[in-house]
Amino acid sequence: MRRLFPSLPHGSAPETAPQAAPGTDAGAASSPQEDQSRWSVDELADAYAYPVQGQDAGRDGHPAYPVHSAHPGTSWLRANMVASLDGAAYHEGRSQPLSSDADMRIFGVLRGLADVVVVGAQTVRQEGYRPARAREAFAARREAAGQGPAPAIAVVSAGLDLDFSLPLFTEPLVPTLVVTGAGAPSDRIAAAREAGAEVVFAGEGAWVEPARVPVALAERGLRRQLTEGGPRLLGQFVAADALDELCLTVAPRLTSGDAPRIVNGPGLAVPSDFRLEGVLEEDGFLFTRYRRI
Ligand SMILES: NC(=O)c1ccc[n+]([C@@H]2O[C@H](COP(=O)([O-])OP(=O)(O)OC[C@H]3O[C@@H](n4cnc5c(N)ncnc54)[C@H](OP(=O)(O)O)[C@@H]3O)[C@@H](O)[C@H]2O)c1
Repeated sequence: MRRLFPSLPHGSAPETAPQAAPGTDAGAASSPQEDQSRWSVDELADAYAYPVQGQDAGRDGHPAYPVHSAHPGTSWLRANMVASLDGAAYHEGRSQPLSSDADMRIFGVLRGLADVVVVGAQTVRQEGYRPARAREAFAARREAAGQGPAPAIAVVSAGLDLDFSLPLFTEPLVPTLVVTGAGAPSDRIAAAREAGAEVVFAGEGAWVEPARVPVALAERGLRRQLTEGGPRLLGQFVAADALDELCLTVAPRLTSGDAPRIVNGPGLAVPSDFRLEGVLEEDGFLFTRYRRI
């Protein structure tokens, strides 16, 4: 993996990606013959660390909670998405055909850093979501930051047409959240609770008011927020001006067809501007990171 941006000062030796640190997941998984340039989990985690501030000092003296967000001092909402070169958010109903090994490593690192993963119900249904797992490589970092062993998954749904007998609801390390409106079907709310899910209300009707989601999660101490889409949920967050950061993988693949873009919602009256924060590259895949201005 190479860092393309921020670039090194002119005249410096070209940056070769760091070697995997001994004892990390990446180190264990690769040999020099396989991949000399794989970044360790810790190096990627540092590159993708949530912005921080305040007294609440955490790991390495870094303060423990995010700032400068759409909800200052309370939370930071980051999205992680992959798109084809021609802008498709999925191929044949799945994002996997657009992904790569490096994309999955970054996907895992972003989860490892998050308090909560917010996801739309259609992605849960389509991609067969399972509970997030605890990873040894993140154990010390998470403990130092006061986080649980794995991020909670928060499923956003109005109809609650979800299979509550799935491990996502019955076997998570930390209870799965179901984020819905107060007017959602009461029998489905009861079914979610019976399965062990925590129901979070963030709207008066059946639908969730997107701007209330980061606030409702932060009230539960879940401030480092990661949304994995899908495009319609992300469209809601963008329309509500609730997104702080976008981690976008650009896959060197064309799909054509009619799949939506990664943000699928009402057009904005005024486009929302983002600033480039970082670009990594591996096998032609670009791993970009943009922050809302
Ligand atoms: N490219 C990528 O990185 C990426 C990432 C994720 C997913 N995907 C792909 O995207 C597809 C699914 O995405 P999608 O856009 O169709 O759906 P989605 O955003 O995953 O989910 C839409 C559903 O979320 C719920 N929802 C959204 N906004 C809500 C609100 N304000 N209040 C209450 N509920 C709300 C509704 O659930 P109910 O219907 O239950 O009410 C809605 O039907 C899949 O093919 C998946 O593979 C791609």
